[in-house]
Amino acid sequence: MFLKEELTKYIASHPNSKKMWDRSNNVLAGGVSHNIRNLNLPLIGAFPPFIQEGHGAIVTDIDDNRYDDYWGAHYAMITGYSNPTIQKKVEQQLENTWHLGTVLEYQVLLAEKLIEDNTSLENIRFCTSGTEATMYATRLARAFTGKKKVAKAKFGWHGAADTLFYDVRAPLTGKETRGILDDKEAGVISIDINDQAVVEILKQHKNDLAAVIVEPVQGGGGGFPLEPEFLQLLREETERHNILLIFDEIITGYRFCNSLYQNELGVYPDLTTMGKIIGGGFPIGAIGGRHDIVEQANPTLHDRVWIGGGTFSSYPLSMIAGLEMLNVLKTSSEQYKRINKLGTSLIMNLNQFFMEEQFSYLAIGHKSLVTLHSLSKVLDGSDPAEIVHFSNKKKEALTQLALLNRHITGMHGVGALSFAHTEKQLQYLQQVIETITPQILKEN
Ligand SMILES: Cc1ncc(COP(=O)(O)O)c(C=O)c1O
Repeated sequence: MFLKEELTKYIASHPNSKKMWDRSNNVLAGGVSHNIRNLNLPLIGAFPPFIQEGHGAIVTDIDDNRYDDYWGAHYAMITGYSNPTIQKKVEQQLENTWHLGTVLEYQVLLAEKLIEDNTSLENIRFCTSGTEATMYATRLARAFTGKKKVAKAKFGWHGAADTLFYDVRAPLTGKETRGILDDKEAGVISIDINDQAVVEILKQHKNDLAAVIVEPVQGGGGGFPLEPEFLQLLREETERHNILLIFDEIITGYRFCNSLYQNELGVYPDLTTMGKIIGGGFPIGAIGGRHDIVEQANPTLHDRVWIGGGTFSSYPLSMIAGLEMLNVLKTSSEQYKRINKLGTSLIMNLNQFFMEEQFSYLAIGHKSLVTLHSLSKVLDGSDPAEIVHFSNKKKEALTQLALLNRHITGMHGVGALSFAHTEKQLQYLQQVIETITPQILKEN
């Protein structure tokens, strides 16, 4: 009943998106260019809204519906959409052209700024996406150590390249797609996060293991934070066995403070992959870390490791927007504090409500990253395997649809806060979730 009412309402208010979705399905596989952008809505007979504009924390679709947005373009837009300072810089560059394929002043400035902000970065390479960055980081690690295997965390998402696309989604079956090598052939080992068993696993594979790669807070995998003690343990054990430690900070870099999250944690990896925020909303990836490891990429070395390549690597607008973004962030410590606090309260308030009502939902995340898990049973713990195992995609889609009908858009339930979000918007979000979840639960 609730689903039917919500669908009727949504279809009536999204005629242009419906037409575009039909056209989209004729020309794009599944109507999308990134799987999650359909918000799972086709599972319940709906379709995603086609967004065309974003300002601050508000986006507008092609039917002129306005939404409070909690997706932030895959968590990249921490300042909110269309930040005027970044926009101005990009417009200035557009007058001088937008791609050259040469060395650029701005790539030096951005690299210098990243190195200045972050203790563990001595050398950097830019590429076009986070996916490339993680792929190149593992290549550097294999070359440096002369070892073949790589360990990653279960549910860790590092992009869908062949190298690390293993044990990402439940049920964990090793490789995540047809068309790539089995995990054993690919040399990928999975570890449980926040689990001491890693000590034995690293010891057992020490002669073959080139690197361990983890996200300090798992984003796409469900918003699960890795305990600082676990990260410290990884640091000690990798060092002990001559295994490199890679932090994938593509989400967490500049998300919680004006630098990489590792500086707050006080745990420093050998290599770090970066992306999203540091591109100011333009395509970017970066690999940074110890000089002796990254410098293997120097093309003048006779045995150089080939990383990079790419027509659009260190794309001028990405370098310029990224640099301007970091300049804005430099003076944003109050804003960071504010959204970290708002996010923490949101997670707490939502869970308090779900617990009191015994509702099968859980809010998981860290500071301004908030994932809303729609589950098929009430859980009180925060064990990632259990939460992901009981995640209910149809219920998640209905939750997303009901949010859209109430002018809220997000991904994985909510997503991330930006500096543009107000306390009032968060109160509205809480109120909407408290209104729709009892009706969704009746439906299931
Ligand atoms: C932690 C993490 N690593 C890597 C990637 C891949 O980055 P990109 O989408 O820029 O290729 C993502 C993207 O969501 C990510 O969240």
